[in-house]
Formats: sequence, C-alpha cells, structure tokens
Amino acid sequence: MTTNSPLWYKDAIFYELHVRAFYDSNADGIGDLPGLTEKLDYLQTLGVNCLWLLPIYPSPRKDDGYDIADYYNIDPAYGTMQDFENFIHAAHQRGLRVIMDLVLNHTSDQHPWFQAARASKDSPYRDYYVWSDTDQKYADARIIFLDTEPSNWTWDEQAGQYYWHRFYASQPDLNYDNPAVRQEMLRVADFWLQKGIDGFRADAVPYLIEREGSNCENLPETHDYLKQLRAHIDEGYPGRILLCEANQSPQDVRPYFGEGDEFHMGFHFPLMPRIYMSLQKETIRDLQEILAQTPPIPENCQWCIFLRNHDELTLEMVTEEERQWMWQQYAPDPRMKLNLGIRRRLAPLLQNDRARLELANSLLLTLPGAPIIYYGDEIGMGDNLLLPDRDGVRTPMQWDSSPQAGFSTTTPATPLLTGDYAPERVNVQDQLQNPASLFHALRHMLQVRQQSPALGQGSLHWHNPGNPAIALYERRHLQERVLILHNLSGLAQVASLGGGFPAHVRNLLTDQTQPLPTEILLQPRQFLWLALED
Ligand code: GLC
Ligand code: CA
Repeated sequence: MTTNSPLWYKDAIFYELHVRAFYDSNADGIGDLPGLTEKLDYLQTLGVNCLWLLPIYPSPRKDDGYDIADYYNIDPAYGTMQDFENFIHAAHQRGLRVIMDLVLNHTSDQHPWFQAARASKDSPYRDYYVWSDTDQKYADARIIFLDTEPSNWTWDEQAGQYYWHRFYASQPDLNYDNPAVRQEMLRVADFWLQKGIDGFRADAVPYLIEREGSNCENLPETHDYLKQLRAHIDEGYPGRILLCEANQSPQDVRPYFGEGDEFHMGFHFPLMPRIYMSLQKETIRDLQEILAQTPPIPENCQWCIFLRNHDELTLEMVTEEERQWMWQQYAPDPRMKLNLGIRRRLAPLLQNDRARLELANSLLLTLPGAPIIYYGDEIGMGDNLLLPDRDGVRTPMQWDSSPQAGFSTTTPATPLLTGDYAPERVNVQDQLQNPASLFHALRHMLQVRQQSPALGQGSLHWHNPGNPAIALYERRHLQERVLILHNLSGLAQVASLGGGFPAHVRNLLTDQTQPLPTEILLQPRQFLWLALED
C-alpha cells in the first residue's frame, strides 16, 4: 500500500507500461484497459506503487500515441472511458497510483485544431501553432529526431506557410505565446485529474516556447507556464504530481523544480548512460562525477531514475567521445542505433547476464531518486531490431509460453519476440513459479527497499573503499543509515571500510546480522545492502 502522505512520490517505485503491449482482453491483438485491469494483481505482486501509462488518447500513431488527435478521449483500441474509470478505481483499490502522459508541446497534425489552423489564416486556431513564411527562424534549435527530420520547419501546402515542430513533422508544436493554448492545456489537465489520476508525466517540456537567438530550450517563459500549471494543479488537486521529462544536464533540469513550486519530480537523464558506462568500465568514476554535478533539489522534490524506458537509450547527455564509446560497447550492430541513442532493452544490453542485471537493478534501487521499472524488464525481456523506430522495445508482454505468450488469443498486432527472448524462454508464469528467477530476485529487492525510508529518500554519502571498482556509499534518513556496496567488476574485489562503522550490521537482503570486517571481499558483481544499527 502506498502511503497517504502528500509526499508519497518521494519513496514510491514506479512502473512504466504501454497499455497497447500489456494484455489484450478482447482478442483483437492489441492490449487494452480491461486487459491491464486484469493484470493489476500481477503488478501488486511485483510490488510497485505507481503506474505510468504511455499515451492512450486517440491518435494516428505516427509517434505511437505521442501524436494526439483528441485530448479528451481514449483511443477505442484501448477501450472506453468507462473502462478507464474502472481501471483507475481498480488500481486505487489495490493501493496503486496512476500517472499519464500530458503531451503539452505538440498535437497530431490530424488534431481538429491543426486541421482548422492550416485551412484558414482567419481561424482562431491558426495561432494555436507556430507559423512562418520562411524556414530560417530559430536556426539555433537542434533537430531531435535526427534520423528522419531534415528541419524543424515543414511547408504546409494548404496553409501556404511553414509550421514549427521539434519532433516528427506529423507533430506540429503548439504556440505557448497564445493565452488560449495555455488555457486549453490547463483544461486538459483538469479533465484527467477529475477522472482521478494521480498526476502527469509531462512530455518534452523544454520546448514549449521559441525565441530568436536562443536554442529554444528551457526558456524562462517556458518555466513561467509550467509554474502556472503547477499552481493550478496544487489548487484543485493537492497530492497529485507532475513529473518532468527534460532530457537536459542536471544544471538545466534543476530550474524545473523551481523553489518546490514547479515539478515534483524530474527524470535524471544523464545518470542513466553513466550507469552503463560504470558497468562496462567497471569503475565508479562516471557515476560519481555526474552525481557530484547534480545540484541539490528542494525538500518536496524527487529525482526519477531509470535504466530503460520506451525510447532509445538516449546519449544526448554525454560527450561526443563518450557517445562513440557507448555505441561501440552497447550497439555493435548499426540497427541498434537510433538518433543519438541505442534502441535496445535492458537484458540484451547486459548480455542477458543475471549478475549484471541484478547489479544494475541494485544501483537503480539504491541511488538517490525514485526508480522506474520498464515493463518486461522485470523478467528480462529482449527487443526486436527488425521493427522500426522504437517499436522493438515495445513488444507484447510475455505472460506465458503459449503461442501468443498469454498476451492475446490471436496474433498480436506487434509481433512477439523470437529466439533467445521468445516467450518459451522468458515469461511471467515460469518466473513466478521459479523462486530463483530474476522476477523473484527483483521483487525481493523491491520489498526490502519499500521498508527502508533511507533508500527511498535518504541523503547520499560516498565513502572511499580504496578500490575504484567498488561503489561504496551510504544513504541516511533521520536515524536510519544503510551502507551500500557494489562490486562493478567481473573479478572478486576487496573493499576497505576503515573505521567509523559498527562491528555488526544487518544484511537487508538476507535479513541476517553479520560482522562487518574492515576489509570485505566481494564476489564478482556482488552487492550488499547493510543497515548500520548501533
Ligand atoms: C518524448 C517521448 C517520446 C516521444 C517524444 C515526442 O520524448 O518519450 O516517445 O516521441 O516525446 O512526443
Ligand atoms: Ca484488445
């Protein structure tokens, strides 16, 4: 059960899922809300607290739902509004919270606003979007979907002008200099909050406002609007949260927390690739560096940390040299690359190696921030490089070893995995039955973490173990202290603890009290969570 505290998100464990890919209840090959509702018991068994649903609004799906054609409805493929309300009710009954995507920056080009806007210069909707007679404005804004989009401007024949878009050309940017747009999106937020959801993951927020002579990211006017959104939500719906998607440096993400009056939470994008760098280089240096550069955030805020999500593993927040290195190490096949990233899942990235998978998850669950688990990663699902764009990391959840993986009774719209990660080899049912499975290992780690406020919201203190292959840190909260050791290396390593620690500790993962020697021998990729109790 999640707590009723207004700060519930600070030590919550999040689970990101695609309704489309989770469970198909009506045999059309597409996952849906009644299907997800049936699987809530599973999510409760796993032990997460808050679900983040990828967009389920009506959409032509040129960007898998991030191109919204109607903000006030559910895509019929996923169910009805009644199905949605039933789902929210059923989730809340189980103590599970739910957040959804709020896509502020752009709509689909099929949205009636854009259709009206392009049809006439006199339409009140014309000014909902960003138009220009030339494609030369805002030249300092980078292109995000580098592999497909030659420009942030696209000529619209019908409109007789260029329109601005930071993502696909099928996703025209809304114009946040227009007060009507600002109001409109507050109404959208109201609509879903009134349905009872617990907050939003706000998509692509750095790009709301454009200004000549800037890179059109993180502008003060953008923050002004986001603060307005926050105040609006606080006023009507206390306890609901806003989670910020800003793929930016920690210094640039910091302002999105404001003085505790903008976002409650923000993804820590740059930490993620550095976890992979540390795992592969078998040293803590990159991890320590990025955390040292991470500014403190207000008391009522929290970072969100993750190993993978529904997008490519983004390498936007590393240097060119580091990016080349990451591609060499983690994307040996050119098909694995996408834009500035890597379109693979966690298990294949870590060579399906159990010790590495547990080590990575242990870092995720013990570093500062609320962890997000990406659906399927709890059982070690793989990816499909034959599918375009990011579809290969969004394949159907594998519930059992039957021909349709227990996902559907018909052929899934998105094909199931084959080969090493096929449902016969990787599925929920087998792992639930096997106490030695990855699922159970992770579930146990989640349970332990849930019982430790220090792991949820404690401060971070590094110790020097005299060995760069070992991450040795402490999490502290009130009287609670937890000492964390990770051996990043594939060889056994010694950690020197020095003085200042109690002679005995409680190993949180085994629940055994054990002596704490001044030198600890750690097995390859071993990790320890030790409660320091006097
Ligand atoms: C965010 C989403 C991504 C989407 C983009 C445009 O980055 O995570 O999936 O393509 O926004 O909406
Ligand atoms: Ca269905």
